[in-house]
Amino acid sequence: GLERDLAGRHVVISAGGTREPLDPVRFLGNHSSGKQGYALAATAAARGARVTLLSANATLPDPAGVDVVHVSTALQLREAALKAVLDADAVVMAAAVADFRPAEYATGKIKKVDGVDQPPITLVRNPDILAELSADRARPGQLVVGFAAETDDVLANGRAKLARKGCDLLVVNEVGGGKAFGQDTNAAVLLGADGAEVAVPDGPKEALADRIWDEVVARLG
Ligand code: C5P
Repeated sequence: GLERDLAGRHVVISAGGTREPLDPVRFLGNHSSGKQGYALAATAAARGARVTLLSANATLPDPAGVDVVHVSTALQLREAALKAVLDADAVVMAAAVADFRPAEYATGKIKKVDGVDQPPITLVRNPDILAELSADRARPGQLVVGFAAETDDVLANGRAKLARKGCDLLVVNEVGGGKAFGQDTNAAVLLGADGAEVAVPDGPKEALADRIWDEVVARLG
């Protein structure tokens, strides 16, 4: 990634993890640090791209030369993504998006009730942003990349997810046992809808990011 092979391109990246509020003091969230998405943003900028980073609750400094849009919930991320991808050449959804959100937001703090052991929390499905962006490409030839964290049968589950989501590339991480979340290194297999299978050994998140951009560049018209 020493060349500016993304010059003239606009890339959109989501990073971090969504938070789905229950009440003014609580949320449903996840452990995504945002490091992989921020590494994708920094490496794309270094390769000459115009970069829009949709950051969900990451506490990392804004990368230099990148447009950062801060969001919190999955619905906010969806709104920001639909807008940002309109003129994008490539979209990489690295954020951990909550599959469910509380059906209702309590405007006052939810209280314990004596004798009631089951909290009155109902969840509803969030939209699948990656599947939506893949199905309705904002531009012909726009490249869509997803991430998948799998604990078992990584390749088989990855292939099934790639087909289900309808994206062009899927970055499959093996998680569990302290892997990936919050770490500075990552190992992955990049699966292409064209049949490609690229194993990226454990290394800095920037190195994986550059390998992902290599695969994106090779597929951009
Ligand atoms: O289905 P799963 O959550 O494993 O898929 C992960 C991929 O899908 C990631 O790229 C994530 O950003 C994206 N995703 C999404 N909207 C959701 C759930 C996941 O865009 N509601």
